[in-house]
This record gives sequence, structure tokens and C-alpha cells, in this order.
Amino acid sequence: MLVLGIESTCDETGVAIIEDGYRIRANVVNSQVPLHERFGGVVPEIASRAHTEVITRLIERALKEAGLECGPKPPVDLIAVAHRPGLIGALLVGVTAAKSLALAWDIPLIGVDHVHAHIYSVILQSEEPDEPPQESDFFPAVSLVVSGGHTSLYFSRNAIEHSLIGTTTDDAAGEAFDKVAALLGLGYPGGPAISRAAADGDRKSTRFPRTLLGNDSLDFSFSGLKTAVRYYAKGQDAERTAPLKPGIEVADVAAAFEAAVVDVLVEKVRRAVEHEGVERAIVAGGVAANRHLREQLEHWARREHVTLQIPELKFCTDNAAMITALGTRLWQAGRRHDLDLEASTTTTT
Ligand code: KG4
Ligand code: ZN
Repeated sequence: MLVLGIESTCDETGVAIIEDGYRIRANVVNSQVPLHERFGGVVPEIASRAHTEVITRLIERALKEAGLECGPKPPVDLIAVAHRPGLIGALLVGVTAAKSLALAWDIPLIGVDHVHAHIYSVILQSEEPDEPPQESDFFPAVSLVVSGGHTSLYFSRNAIEHSLIGTTTDDAAGEAFDKVAALLGLGYPGGPAISRAAADGDRKSTRFPRTLLGNDSLDFSFSGLKTAVRYYAKGQDAERTAPLKPGIEVADVAAAFEAAVVDVLVEKVRRAVEHEGVERAIVAGGVAANRHLREQLEHWARREHVTLQIPELKFCTDNAAMITALGTRLWQAGRRHDLDLEASTTTTT
């Protein structure tokens, strides 16, 4: 089965073509980072326009890469699209493109939850495997999705059934990285910038708070940490735009901040694994690209004999391959949508 999938939930436009749910025939992404950079964050209106400008070209490019014809005859069997959650204008571009293709080619359409697709991205391999991935190697598991828009813990019964067991009460982890990077003048997107700066810093230069919200909580809060960094780097009551205090080493602050976020994320995954009594953990989403987080998780998993799955770096950040693979899987499980499919800003509950 050949599936074409579209991703346009936030600031990456992606189109992928996947055969039989795991053979990646094409996976193209257009990042909008240069457009949003000078605003220090994603501007929704700019994101929608940029998706509109590139989506047709990306669809053609993906088909060409996969060696398929872009003509009146349907080159694929199914269209998958991320229809939730995300920025509404951005989502509508992908959903409209997907509906247009499904209508023109007279083929079915399936909507995919972007957060669930982040979890499913653990099965993707850029080097094509000889055998299809076995879902029983990955699930049941505790899944943590950490990205710019989400910090959510799930009990994943299998590849398509996820129950939310914890979430952030304020900022998402990636959002905290982005805001602290802006505060330190490190640019956008903040995650990679903090990570690079932290490589030369001392994690123990100062100790920022690890907000755990009590002994049993599986929820997250990062706003206190963000404020603590601001007070430390700029002074009590300083405005966000105030200059750094003299003597503040940006690399050290970045490293100490990164260490605090990573400690919290590892502790919550540990608690969730204990709480659910599972032996597997999945950590996915843009922040899962963070090297220190990957190292600390691996360290913990080895110590506790937990099977840890983290997607390859290129599948951590937003991409259409994860949407296409999960779309195929949902189709095979009997899920169906039609041209009434709606875009939604919220995740599936
Ligand atoms: O999954 P993603 O591409 O988009 C959303 O669904 O939100 O995640 C983007 C987020 C951004 O906040 C970015 O700063 C963060 O992932 N990120 C990182 C790293 N690479 C990307 N955070 C920490 N360390 C990284 N290396
Ligand atoms: Zn994402």
C-alpha cells in the first residue's frame, strides 16, 4: 500500500510517501525557521502563508523522489494528513491540500493526530529494514512527547491507543527552551541554540529549581524555572528585555537550565514507568533531539533495565513520515474519514 502524507501543523511543511507503512520512499520538509527567526517565535499568519506557498511544490517533489507520476491517475492508494493539534490556519492548508488530492484522485483520506504520530515515529528507520518493524517490540509503553507545543505523558497500550497520564500545567518543554534562549540572546529556535551553548558550559555552575509538583504527580511545570533563570541572569524584578548582569556566563546558565529540564523529564518518565508497571519507555518530539536528555535517559534506562526507544534525530522534529506511517496504521486498523474531516487545535482525548 502506498500512502502520501502531509504535515503542516506548525512551522514545518512536510510531505512523505511510505510503502506498506514503513518503507520511506520520500520524506521532504520545508522549514520556516528563517521566516520566524526575527520575531523570536512562530507567527501564525506567516506560517499559514508559507505553507500555502510551498505545499504544491513539496507534493510534486515527494512524488518525483518516489519515482511516481504526478498526473490525473492516482499514484498512491491513500492520503494521510495531520489534522490536529496545531495552529488552525496552518492545519487548514494541509487538510485542504489533502482533501483536494483525495477528491481529484478519488482515493480515501485519513486524519492523523500529530502528537500520536510523534509517538509512532519510533518505528521509523531511515535505513530501510528488511523486515517490517514489530509493534510488540515498542508497545505497551509509557510515552513522553516533548516538543514546542506539547509535554505529555501517555500510557500507550499499543501503537494507536494512548491514554494521557500527565501534561504540562503551563509551558511545554520546548517552549521553555525557546523562551530561555530568547532571554539569553541565543536566538531561535531555542532548543538547538541552548544545547550548543550548554556544550561549553558547567551544568553545576548554579542549581535551578526542579519543579516536580509533589511526590506522585506526573504533570509538569516549567514557568518557575523560566523565572528563576531570568532572576539569576538579569536580576530580581528585571524585565525580560533587560541586559544580562555583568559576569553572567551564558554557556553556564544554558547548561544549568538544560540540566534542570532534563532532570525533571527523566524523573517523570521514571515515575510513569513505575506507575504503569511497564518495561518500555518512548520519548519523542523535538526536545527528544536534545543530546543531554538522550544521554540521561539512556543512563537511567540501563540502570533500571527499561527498554528505551527514542526516534532517530531527523524523526524527532516535525516531519510527514510519522504522519504517513501512522495514517497507514490507522487505515489498517479500520479507521475511516471522509471529505468532512475537520482541522482542530486540540489533541485527541
Ligand atoms: O516536535 P517539534 O519539531 O514541533 C512541535 O510539534 O512543537 O518541536 C520543536 C521544539 C522547539 O521548541 C525546539 O526548540 C525544540 O523542539 N528542540 C530542542 C532541540 N531541538 C529542537 N530542544 C532541546 N534540544 C534540542 N536539541
Ligand atoms: Zn511536533
